[in-house]
Amino acid sequence: MSSNREGTKVPFCRTDAVFGVDGNGGVHTIMRSPQKFIALTAVAALSLALGACSSDDKESGDGGNEVEVFTWWASGSEKLGLDALVKVFDDQHPDIEFINGAVAGGAGSAAKDLLQSNLQNNNPPDTFQAHAGAELTDYINAGQLQDVSNLFDEFDLRDAFPADLIDRLTVDGKIYSIPSNIHRANVVWANPTVLEDAGLDPAATYDSVEDWFTALDAVEKSGKTALSVAAPWTQVNLLETILLADLGAESYSGLWDGSTDWAGADVTKSLENFEKLIGYTNTDRDGLDWPDATQQVIDGQAGFNVMGDWAVAAFEEADKELGTDFIAFPVPGTDGVFDFLADSFTLPVGAPNPDGAKAWLETIGSLEGQTAFNKAKGSIPARTDANPSEFSEYQQTAITSFAEDTIVSSLAHGAATPVATLNAIETATSKFTSGASDLAKFQEELVAANSN
Ligand code: GAL
Repeated sequence: MSSNREGTKVPFCRTDAVFGVDGNGGVHTIMRSPQKFIALTAVAALSLALGACSSDDKESGDGGNEVEVFTWWASGSEKLGLDALVKVFDDQHPDIEFINGAVAGGAGSAAKDLLQSNLQNNNPPDTFQAHAGAELTDYINAGQLQDVSNLFDEFDLRDAFPADLIDRLTVDGKIYSIPSNIHRANVVWANPTVLEDAGLDPAATYDSVEDWFTALDAVEKSGKTALSVAAPWTQVNLLETILLADLGAESYSGLWDGSTDWAGADVTKSLENFEKLIGYTNTDRDGLDWPDATQQVIDGQAGFNVMGDWAVAAFEEADKELGTDFIAFPVPGTDGVFDFLADSFTLPVGAPNPDGAKAWLETIGSLEGQTAFNKAKGSIPARTDANPSEFSEYQQTAITSFAEDTIVSSLAHGAATPVATLNAIETATSKFTSGASDLAKFQEELVAANSN
């Protein structure tokens, strides 16, 4: 694969700004049980330091002392997160050169296709970003990943992650990647000034999608975009959260194991809500990526946006730099449910620099790597021993919610379905939102997408 590809920079960056989570509309805060979060003790700090010392050992590589890392973290807070990881990697493995293989495009919209063709052509990077869950199973079934169970022993990671997360990385007793973080996909971001100007109480909460429509109507009447959205994958992100809100966690999860009927009347009703929501969105949506849509909320052009919590860094930054306040809360009807996804890193079969890849995986799994990365990225560490007080107030609510809420799998971010199913759902969604199909056809295509 070619190396040193750089993404386009977008004009925001992450600082350590902390936002005040709204007392009523904010993400609900329930403290994470203390046993799950042991603060970094002196012993842990010492073992971390000793672990870091091992980086001075000679790194013997098959193909030179470098590692090409393939991600889609090419701009904004995503790039800052990657940069923070690279800094830790450079400290831990000074002899190995990091080669940035990032391909721009939110949710891997461009990266995943390129990755697939490179893997098929036996031209893998040394390591690549993948989602824990069904997406990973695709690569495993295609024989494209090496078992990294031994690295879990070597880096002492067996007890570092929640057991059900390890389950999602495991097939037939083999573990195929090391997780770097956990994100939440069912978050509404809102601009309180826009809401106030529309006559709304920014602290109001909405119990259901139907309740939310009244607020969306008010923002629309005030002349602003009520709900900003971007390219088709962000529309799928919105769709999954509406299905989750309307069907509830159990039936939503049933969509992925066949126990919920995609052709059912409750799905039809939810798709009607989705259709109505799309009616509140900006018409230039298909040409935008997610940072453009969140920026519309930051800039006061739009009232609400639904996006995963990688969006938080831009809101925190604008809050700090410009004093533009913001609100974050679970998508109406999904309170108490954490729409989960996790990024993780792999060791592909045929990786040109397996030793470089293993070194990268060591950094990914390390407490130091996870802390630095997630502070910049807006996600929470996959490790359970990170210290919550090192993270922003929003992240602390996410840490708590992840521990206490019902966990469901994100569709748009590889946790719920294989890539082919997701692609078919995205195509159907895009046809529907661009007016190329009606609701009945949309539902038919969703049924077909999920029938394999
Ligand atoms: C997700 C990924 C996140 C974030 C987001 C937007 O699929 O897991 O880490 O990068 O896409 O690009």
